[in-house]
Amino acid sequence: MNPDRRPLIAANWKMHKTLAEAISFVESIQRETGPCSDREVLIGPPFTALKAIRDNLKQQGYSLGAQNCHWEEKGAYTGEISPLMLKDLGCAYVIVGHSERRQLFGETDETVRLKTAAVIKAGMAPVVCVGEVLGEREGGKTFEVVGRQVEGALGGLSAEQMDGVVIAYEPVWAIGTGRTATPGQAQEVHAYIRARISSLFNKAVEKNVRILYGGSVKPSNIDALMAEPDIDGALVGGASLEVGSFKSLVQFNV
Ligand code: 13P
Repeated sequence: MNPDRRPLIAANWKMHKTLAEAISFVESIQRETGPCSDREVLIGPPFTALKAIRDNLKQQGYSLGAQNCHWEEKGAYTGEISPLMLKDLGCAYVIVGHSERRQLFGETDETVRLKTAAVIKAGMAPVVCVGEVLGEREGGKTFEVVGRQVEGALGGLSAEQMDGVVIAYEPVWAIGTGRTATPGQAQEVHAYIRARISSLFNKAVEKNVRILYGGSVKPSNIDALMAEPDIDGALVGGASLEVGSFKSLVQFNV
């Protein structure tokens, strides 16, 4: 963690929680943590709970985010939700290019790029997910894959448009497996992403962009991960679903 960048602890609930469960969670977590001034907490529920959470999110430091969107503002796209609609609902962030969407729903670097640009245009911050699969890591291709995904999503944006953009490094082999990247493994890729951002944009963007780590983050490993200089937060799946474990993550110590 670098004190210049406010740490972001983000919950990606994926396809979990009914309305009642979502409301109960946000009421409890806000009560348990109190205001957060030196860190930011992002709640990313399914679309169905966005409005209810917006209405119940009152604590300082808490923000609302969606897990996906379409890239068009409106049109004949049955079943899709536009960035404009998410902005209208009070979202500050939208997760784009999560590996589950790339692997299970056919997302490509090109659709991730379109979504990233659309989220920025609508006045929100994208959380752009990148990460290699196990075979790519074992084949020594991690930097190549992550570099291609970063450039694929962000290439073509201006330095001004990068203001607020968040990148999440989520090695696919660490998601939901209990097998976390070691702090050293994560730091190495985060430093690589930051250097890549510098060559795509400039030093100011490199210094300001927040890069989250995701993949089996839990209370027992958050402190060591957050102690790394280029890890600015966490994107959390499983451990964000229970108030007790998510509270410990929000209250990480360095
Ligand atoms: P887990 O924390 O369950 O490994 O999920 C990580 C993730 O995919 C967050 O987007």
